[in-house]
Amino acid sequence: MAIPVNPVYFSYVTHTLALISSIFVLVWCISFRGGLAWEHPDKTLIFNVLLRNKHKFRVICIHPVLMLIGFIILGGEAIISYKALPFEKPVKKLIHLVLHATALILGCIGIYTAFKYHNESNIANLYSLHSWLGMGVIVLYGIQWIYGLVVFFYPGGSHEMRRDSLPWHVLLGMFVYALAIGTAALGFLEKLTFLENSGVAKYGSEAFLVNFTAIFAVLFGAFVFFTAVSQPPPHDGYSAI
Ligand code: HEM
Ligand code: HEM
Repeated sequence: MAIPVNPVYFSYVTHTLALISSIFVLVWCISFRGGLAWEHPDKTLIFNVLLRNKHKFRVICIHPVLMLIGFIILGGEAIISYKALPFEKPVKKLIHLVLHATALILGCIGIYTAFKYHNESNIANLYSLHSWLGMGVIVLYGIQWIYGLVVFFYPGGSHEMRRDSLPWHVLLGMFVYALAIGTAALGFLEKLTFLENSGVAKYGSEAFLVNFTAIFAVLFGAFVFFTAVSQPPPHDGYSAI
C-alpha cells in the first residue's frame, strides 16, 4: 500500500503536530499541574515532577511528558526518518535505530515514574486498562527493537532473512505504534477523569487543554502513518531493504 504523495510534505505536518502536542502537554504539566521534586511529601507531584539535578538545572520529569514527548513523538520521528530525511540509507538506518532506542529508554523511565508515584502513595499497581496496554506496548516495543537490531543492523541477517522480515517489521512496528497512541489517549482520559472527579471543571480550560493535547497526539500518530505509507519520488534513490 502506498499513497502517491511526496512523504516530505506529510512529514512537515507531522513535525508541526509534534510541536503543538509537545507545547500543550508541557503547558498542562507546568502551568496547571506545576510539579515539585523527585522526592517530595506530596506524592502526587512525583507524577507531575520538576526534577532538580545536582547542578540545579530544572529537568522536567513526569509521566505524561516522558510518555508523549519521549516515547510517542520520538518513536514517531524514528518511524518517519526513512521518508522524511535527506540522508543516505545507512545514515537513516542509524537514526531510526537510535531514535527508537531513545524513545524506549525514555518510555521505561516514564513508566517508572508512574510506578514510583503509586508505590510511594500506597496505590495499587497495574489495575487499569491503560496500565495493562502500557506494559504490553513497552514490552512489544522492546522486542521489536531487539529484532530490528539483530536482523537489520548487527550482526544482521542474510539477504533473504532481511527481505522476508521487512514486511513483518513494518506491519508489527505500525501495530505497536498504533497501540502506543491508543494507550496514551487512554492515559489522558483517565488522568482527566480523576481530576474532574476531584473538582476540576468539566468545561474548564484545563479539561479543554488535556483533551486537545490528546487529539493532537492522535493526529500526530495518523500523520506518522501517512508519512510512512506515502511513496517517495522515484529520483531520490530510495529502495526498501
Ligand atoms: C504510550 C504511552 C504510555 C504508556 C506506555 C503508559 C504506561 C503506564 C503504565 C504501565 C502505568 C501503570 C503504573 C502502575 O501501575 O504503577 C501507567 C499509569 C498511569 N498513566 Fe500512563 N502510560 C502512557 C501514557 C500516559 C499519558 C499520556 C498519560 C496522561 C496523563 C498517562 C496517565 C497515566 C495515569 C493517570 C496513570 C495512573 C493510573 C493507572 O495506573 O492507570 N499515561 N501508565
Ligand atoms: C521498536 C522499534 C522499531 C519500530 C517500532 C520500527 C518500525 C518501523 C516501521 C514502521 C518501518 C516502516 C517505515 C517506512 O516504511 O518508511 C520500519 C522500517 C525499517 N526499520 Fe524499523 N522499527 C524499529 C526498530 C528498528 C531497528 C532497531 C532497526 C535496525 C536497524 C530497524 C530497521 C528498519 C529497516 C531496515 C527498515 C526498512 C526501511 C525501508 O523501507 O527502507 N528498525 N521500522
